[in-house]
Amino acid sequence: MIRVLSVFGTRPEAIKMAPLLKKLESHSDIESIVCTTSQHKEMIQSVLDTFNIVPDFDLEIMTPNQTIIDIITKTFNRLDKIIKDVQPQIVLVHGDTTTASTSAQVAFLNQIPVGHVEAGLRTNNKYSPFPEEINRRIISIIADFHFAPTLKNAQQLNDESIKENVFVTGNTVIDALMMVSKENYVFENNKLNTLDFDNKKVCLFTCHRRENLGLPMTNIFSAIKDIVLENKDVEIVFPIHMNPKIRIIANKVFDGIERINLIEPLNYVEFSNLMNKCYLVVTDSGGIQEEAPSLGKPVLVVRTETERPEAVEAGTVKIIGVDYDNVKREIENVLFNESVYNSMCNATNPYGDGNASARIIDAIVNSEL
Ligand code: UD1
Ligand code: UDP
Repeated sequence: MIRVLSVFGTRPEAIKMAPLLKKLESHSDIESIVCTTSQHKEMIQSVLDTFNIVPDFDLEIMTPNQTIIDIITKTFNRLDKIIKDVQPQIVLVHGDTTTASTSAQVAFLNQIPVGHVEAGLRTNNKYSPFPEEINRRIISIIADFHFAPTLKNAQQLNDESIKENVFVTGNTVIDALMMVSKENYVFENNKLNTLDFDNKKVCLFTCHRRENLGLPMTNIFSAIKDIVLENKDVEIVFPIHMNPKIRIIANKVFDGIERINLIEPLNYVEFSNLMNKCYLVVTDSGGIQEEAPSLGKPVLVVRTETERPEAVEAGTVKIIGVDYDNVKREIENVLFNESVYNSMCNATNPYGDGNASARIIDAIVNSEL
C-alpha cells in the first residue's frame, strides 16, 4: 500500500483535487489520507459537500482578512505535526496557492516526496499573479513528480531543467466538470431559474485576484456597470467571492443597479451549469479559463496576462486588461458583434479529456515509492 497524503485549502484546489481524491479513495493499492488547511472555510466546505469528501484532518487556519504570512505560519506549524504523525510516502499538492507552496515545503523539510498536480504553468512575471507565480516555482523546485496539464506546461518545466518524472496528464478540472455538468439542469437557486437566458445576454462575472484589488477592480466594475446601464438586453450574474475587500467595492459600485445580480458564491454544480447556460464569461479566475472553453463559452479575462495561453491560442479566451476603456470596449465588441462572438464560441478543450486523475494515479502506482 502507498500512503498518500493530499493537502489543499482553497476552492479551486478542492474542486481540482476532488476527482483525484475519489479515485485515490477507491484504489486498492493506495491508502488515501486527506488534509485541508481551510485557507477557505465556507467555500471549501461547499466543494467537500458536493463531492462527498470528509477530510481526515482540518488545520482550520482561516481568519477574516488573513495575510499571506498568517496562512504560511499556521500551515507550517500545524501541518508539520500531521506529516510527522501520518508518515506518508508522498504528499500531493495542487497548483499555486499559499496552502500548496507551504505544504510542499513542510513535506520537503520532512524529506517526504512531493507530487505537484497542475505543474508547469507560468506567466514569467514575478508579481503577477501575486504570489502565485512564485508559489508554483517553489513547488516545481521541491516536487519529485510533476503532473503537467498540457504539453506546453511540460515543455516549460523542461526549459527550467526539470526533466524527470514529468507526466502530461490533462487538467483534473475537466474530470471535475464532467462529473457535474448536466443537460436541462434546473437550478436550486430560484433567482437563477428566473433569468431569461433566451432573450437576454446573461453574462457570468467573477473577480477576486489580489492584484486586481483596489483601482483595477473599481475600473472593471465601473465598465460593467456602464454597459448594463446602456444596454437593456444585458444582464450580469456575479457570485461574489467571500473576501470582504471585494464585497466593499462591489457593494459600492453596483449598489441599486438593475440587472446586476450580486449573489453568494454558488456550489460547483450550480456554478458550472450556470456557465453552461450563460452567453459570455468575464473573469479573472484561473480555473474558469479552463472550464468555459470546453463548454464553448467565450471568456474575456480581466487581467494583463495569463499562465493559460492554450485557449487564447484557440481563440476562445481573450485577455482584455484592467483599464476602464479597454474592458468596456472589449466586452461590448463581443456582446454586440455577432461574427466576433461566434468566432469565439468554438468548443475547444486543450486542458484534458476527463482522465487526468487516472493518469496521475497510474504514475504514482507505477513509481518506486
Ligand atoms: C486564494 C489564493 C488564490 C486563489 C484564490 C481562489 C493565495 C495567496 N491566494 O486567494 O491563488 O486564486 O484563493 O479563490 O493562496 N473568505 C471567507 N470564506 C471563505 C473563503 C474566503 O470568508 O470560504 C475570506 C476571508 O476573509 C479571507 C479572504 O476571503 O481572509 C481572502 O482569502 P485568501 O485565501 O487569503 O485569498 P484569496 O484571494 O481567496
Ligand atoms: N466556482 C464555483 N462557484 C462560484 C465561483 C467559482 O464553484 O461561485 C468554481 C469555478 O467553476 C472554478 C473555481 O471555482 O472551478 C475557480 O475558483 P476561483 O476563481 O476562486 O480561483 P482560481 O481558479 O482563480 O484560482
